[in-house]
Amino acid sequence: MASKTSRDVLIRGFVVLGRAIREQPRIFAVAVSGSVLFGLMVIASAYVVGAVVGDVVVPAIARGSIGVGALVLAATALFGISVLRVVGIFGRRLGAGYMQYRLQAAYRRRVTRRYLDLPLSWHHRNATGTLLSNANSDVEAAWYPIAPLPFAVGTLVMLVGAVVSLFVTDWALALVGLAVFPALFALNVVYSRRMAPRQARAQRLRAEVSGIAHESFDGALVVKTMGREAQETARFAGRAGELRDALIAVGRLRGVFDPMLEALPSLGTLAVLVVGAFRLRQGAIDVTELVSVAFLFTVLAFPVRAIGWVLAELPRSVAGWDRVSRVLDATGEMPYGDRELPADPTPATLQFADVSFGYEPAEAHLPGTEVLGEVSFTVPAGRTVALVGPTGAGKSTIASLAVRLVDPRSGTVTLDGVDVRQLTAGSLAATAALVAQVPFVFDDTVRANIALDRPGIGDDDVWAALRLAEADGFVAGLPDGLDTMVGERGTSLSGGQRQRLTLARALAGRPRLLVLDDATSAVDPRVEAAILAGLRSADRPGASVASILVVAYRRATIALADEVIYIEQGRVVARGTHAELLATVPGYTDLVTAYEQAEVERAQEVPYDEGADPLSSGLEIEVDR
Ligand SMILES: Nc1ncnc2c1ncn2[C@@H]1O[C@H](COP(=O)(O)OP(=O)(O)OP(=O)(O)O)[C@@H](O)[C@H]1O
Ligand SMILES: [Mg+2]
Repeated sequence: MASKTSRDVLIRGFVVLGRAIREQPRIFAVAVSGSVLFGLMVIASAYVVGAVVGDVVVPAIARGSIGVGALVLAATALFGISVLRVVGIFGRRLGAGYMQYRLQAAYRRRVTRRYLDLPLSWHHRNATGTLLSNANSDVEAAWYPIAPLPFAVGTLVMLVGAVVSLFVTDWALALVGLAVFPALFALNVVYSRRMAPRQARAQRLRAEVSGIAHESFDGALVVKTMGREAQETARFAGRAGELRDALIAVGRLRGVFDPMLEALPSLGTLAVLVVGAFRLRQGAIDVTELVSVAFLFTVLAFPVRAIGWVLAELPRSVAGWDRVSRVLDATGEMPYGDRELPADPTPATLQFADVSFGYEPAEAHLPGTEVLGEVSFTVPAGRTVALVGPTGAGKSTIASLAVRLVDPRSGTVTLDGVDVRQLTAGSLAATAALVAQVPFVFDDTVRANIALDRPGIGDDDVWAALRLAEADGFVAGLPDGLDTMVGERGTSLSGGQRQRLTLARALAGRPRLLVLDDATSAVDPRVEAAILAGLRSADRPGASVASILVVAYRRATIALADEVIYIEQGRVVARGTHAELLATVPGYTDLVTAYEQAEVERAQEVPYDEGADPLSSGLEIEVDR
């Protein structure tokens, strides 16, 4: 069983190599040509050395004087061979390097491109650490054998050349070669088969170690505040220890096989000397030929190792390739349509019609639960609709559906009457903007974070967006203004500042529909209401900048909405104005009042800190009851 799977690995490894050659045929040809040139020159050097010994040195000893002409000729030949060998090595190394790094770069690009094409549901199922190692160490591992591949191919050609030249010289010596070379090859194959499971295990552990590391650093705040440093370190150390053991197992195997691979050609040389001495006495060969063949076995030892390098790396390459192709072959990306909405600056109409939705289960055999059931509502052009509901009710899910991060199971989401599935990616992005519950800020300047390299967004637009997001004040106060670097994930900003930055980013694109998912929760309540009021009545009097779907809890904010949709457990329970719902829906009143009370209590306990982490407020947990 084990040997069957390792044979599979070898075969699949050759398939991966074949793919590499198909992708970079020209560079591969250059590298192999260099390698073959080198191999032929190795054989040639053996025969020249043999000739020097047999035809120059031995006669010279016999005569007691050296023939200068012959010596010059021999020196010239050896020099010429050396030059060609150097050219061969140069061509091979350069070609192999080019090929390996080009493939790595190409596949890194393909993998990361694929990440962006795959739907959120796929990302939900795959850990960030794994994605990082897919794009880094797995891509590298897949193409590791490319470095020694041209050498190995050249060596095969060289071995054939060596056997042929052995037969031309003497059949008895050729038999020694025929015994040693296949033995070397067989030893290499055994080596790589033994290596396969160890390499695959090491590659898997590499990904797990990077996954744990990523999670601990990402969650550094939680780890520190909860005093989990020791446990996190232990968790990491455990897996890092397994990786160490796996790599030591790899090294141990290498330690056993490397000397054997080294020793076999030396034994060959010994056999050549023994057999050759007999043949010399029989007069079948002369000194020149004996020295040539003995020397040939010595110089062959090193290149033959190249075959072993390729075979030994194949299992790791297959393991890496499997993990890379899992990403490249993943399906489920959402195909976009070809319809465009007019890019005029009027607000758009968003409509949900009987939308049902469920997240895919983490594991395929588990049943997926329904998160939204037949949700219908409309955000008329230019209107503001508030989405209110207890935690886990499905508000963020509705927000994701509105900007088509996910597609409904049944029912339709339309923008200006067009099913969002029929829109082009560009039209969708230009029309609807989501400001997510958890703000994401790039490690870049304030300007870059807001403009995002989108065409037509100048500094004036950036400032206008910042004003609408009530963020112009604090940005103006930053040391470098728009050029201030905000740190990774915006660590140098407060939570409320981060939220307003991401809001400004959405506004800078002048969307026709704005979806705010609890997007100003970390901002002072008065500022939150001011932002929404500003968005409703911005520059053009009488019309709002965009239609707005806003998830919010605060009374002052909700009260600004034209209509409130109240949902519980994925279903619309009630709709109407804030005042109507307060009067008629007990659940709604409880929720809004509880939230308000909690805010008041919190305000009494600590002076309001707009940088406070909204996630640690504990409010959501209370209102859930
Ligand atoms: N990626 C996911 N995979 C599986 N289930 C999910 C996923 N995201 C959310 N859910 C589930 O879907 C339901 C609705 O989640 P959603 O995030 O839409 O709630 P919400 O109303 O936004 O809550 P909150 O007020 O806490 O933000 C919850 O039961 C949640 O557990
Ligand atoms: Mg949410």
